[in-house]
Amino acid sequence: MNSQTIRLLVTRALTDKAMAFAGERFHIWCNPHDRIMTTPELLAAAQAHGADALLVTAFDRLDKAAIEALPPAVKVVATYSVGHNHIDLAAASARGLAVLSTPDVLSDTVAEMALLLMLAAARRAYEGQRLIYDGRWVGWTPTLLLGRDVVGARLGVFGMGRIGRSVARRAARGFDMAVHYHNRSRLPGELEQGAVYHADAADLLAVSDFLVLTAPSTPQTARFLDAARIARLPRGAIVVNVARGDLVDDAALIAALREGQVAAAGLDVFDNEPDIHPGYLDLPNVFLQPHQGSSTLGARVRMAELLTTSIASVLAGAPVANRIV
Ligand code: DGY
Repeated sequence: MNSQTIRLLVTRALTDKAMAFAGERFHIWCNPHDRIMTTPELLAAAQAHGADALLVTAFDRLDKAAIEALPPAVKVVATYSVGHNHIDLAAASARGLAVLSTPDVLSDTVAEMALLLMLAAARRAYEGQRLIYDGRWVGWTPTLLLGRDVVGARLGVFGMGRIGRSVARRAARGFDMAVHYHNRSRLPGELEQGAVYHADAADLLAVSDFLVLTAPSTPQTARFLDAARIARLPRGAIVVNVARGDLVDDAALIAALREGQVAAAGLDVFDNEPDIHPGYLDLPNVFLQPHQGSSTLGARVRMAELLTTSIASVLAGAPVANRIV
């Protein structure tokens, strides 16, 4: 299929530069509303626009019923995310639908967010800011907001994919951290870069002064960080999540943050976003971000470039590296 004739439905307006990049290549219809489309709206728009491909976000849920109801002309679903837990891959595969995502182009960007969260949680950035904004700062004292050292601490990475490896590399090189990790399988030495593998995630927890969650959301990782696993962390550990909210049992983490088993948490992702567990909002020892780990101008353009290029390739019958099914 000639890329000039491809009709692309975009479910959320991208940055101007990203939209321009896609618009130069395809006929685009973009959701005019600043909100998620309902499934009936998405299906109706795909039909009305005669879409060959959909560019969706991680918050457009494409379950089995939605995939089966897509108009036959739709051949590709490209998700503007590296996570793809919102798409029923088995249903897509059964229907012969190609599913594309955005690996690599955002790994370092999300890793930066993980480092920000580690530092902010360890150095009590939220409490410090509140002190100033609330007019309660009365000056320097030797005991003001005592935090934790990041340099030289042990980092546990749960999920050593591209993002996990980027976090590990930066933590080891920039902060002299001793990196440990758990992954479904051990990485080859050149990817491990000196990190210590723990086949059993429970062993990883025991050595994680800082625990960073970078594993995908799957039935196996859902509620990974529950009360029993939190109890295995060293007392006063710091927890960071840049993966998906459902990896964490919120009630258990909130209880541990209140009680001190977890000293602080830096969270960019939550279960049931944006309606996050209210328990987090009462805690001083958290640093919360609104799921913006991959949100830089550069990453957003790279994501659009990758998806539009690969949509055109797939529709022309060519293989692409970022195809999931
Ligand atoms: C991703 O790429 O998966 C980010 O979390 C945005 O959804």
